[in-house]
Amino acid sequence: MALAMVELRLCLHGATSAMPSGRRGRSCLCQSSHSPSRVGRTARIHCRKTSSDFCSEVKPTSRFLGSISGLGFRDLREDGPTTTASAAADGGVFVVRAVLDSAAPEKPKPKQRYPGESKGFVEEMRFVAMKLHTKDQAKEGGKEADVQPVAKWEPTITGYIRFLVDSKKVYDTMESIVAKATHPSYELFRDTGLERSERLAKDLEWFESQGHTIPEPGPAGTSYADFLTELSEKNVPAFICHFYNVYFAHSAGGRFIGKRVAEMILDGRELEFYKWDGELPELLAAVKSNLNKVAEGWTREEKNLCLEETESSFKYSGKILRTIISQ
Ligand code: HEM
Repeated sequence: MALAMVELRLCLHGATSAMPSGRRGRSCLCQSSHSPSRVGRTARIHCRKTSSDFCSEVKPTSRFLGSISGLGFRDLREDGPTTTASAAADGGVFVVRAVLDSAAPEKPKPKQRYPGESKGFVEEMRFVAMKLHTKDQAKEGGKEADVQPVAKWEPTITGYIRFLVDSKKVYDTMESIVAKATHPSYELFRDTGLERSERLAKDLEWFESQGHTIPEPGPAGTSYADFLTELSEKNVPAFICHFYNVYFAHSAGGRFIGKRVAEMILDGRELEFYKWDGELPELLAAVKSNLNKVAEGWTREEKNLCLEETESSFKYSGKILRTIISQ
């Protein structure tokens, strides 16, 4: 296969001339009259001669905008900075017309796909959340194992009560935010069956009946509650991220932690916090469907804003979880 070098000249008129190697054409072969000094950008093209065809690979020195429509050119393809086309040879010289149009529309970028996107937005949130788990917390965890994994936690009753009090502060806040519904999309998350506030109240009553003192919410609970109240008014997608993580984390890892703690310090007593009316998978599925519905109305930027909030959700909830092992 012979390789022939040709000079591709793009003139200011938008015409192009191509000459076989060695015959460096100075003038433009387009029919318009203009002086050689006005001959514009040049680019080298490598022509691979196959039978009577030229297959040319055009590597413009500057961006090659627009389209080439020309005599015998076919299979025109643009792939990044390279434009390839095949052309019929015409006595060793071929002429193409290049439309240099700086206003030509940009080729649309291929749409970026987000993990889980095809299954709905909740799956996207779940993917981000799972990556923030440590490998010892969950199989899908993307972070190195915790220095103090749950398996090595030594919970105390005082610490566990603090955890329940702080959790109640957060659930009270979440549930009053959706009850007030300062934003219409929050209405969908009222009476989901996932509410935890009343059940936590019952658990704390039980601890009190056992002679334990119930403290006021601590900084882990109040700082998260204040943060959520503010966020719910000014940033709906970010608030929804916290809503998803708070309720879904409790139904997954939260239950696992609760069971372990109960075995260690409560003689296996199952607290109300870990019970739901009805089938939990069904309650979760209904909430998932509404979360997906709300996110359908969001722009990609709003969705990303929501996903980026996951880290903050882990930070706040992580602090509350750690009160379990406080003294
Ligand atoms: C010691 C702490 C934690 C442990 C042991 C833990 C463990 C787990 C496990 C085992 C799963 C289930 C994975 C699966 O579906 O196969 C899970 C799911 C999940 N966790 Fe955690 N987790 C912890 C903390 C957190 C925190 C702090 C958050 C966020 C606030 C969180 C958010 C989630 C979410 C959103 C899911 C997905 C639930 C679903 O698919 O329905 N987790 N976690």
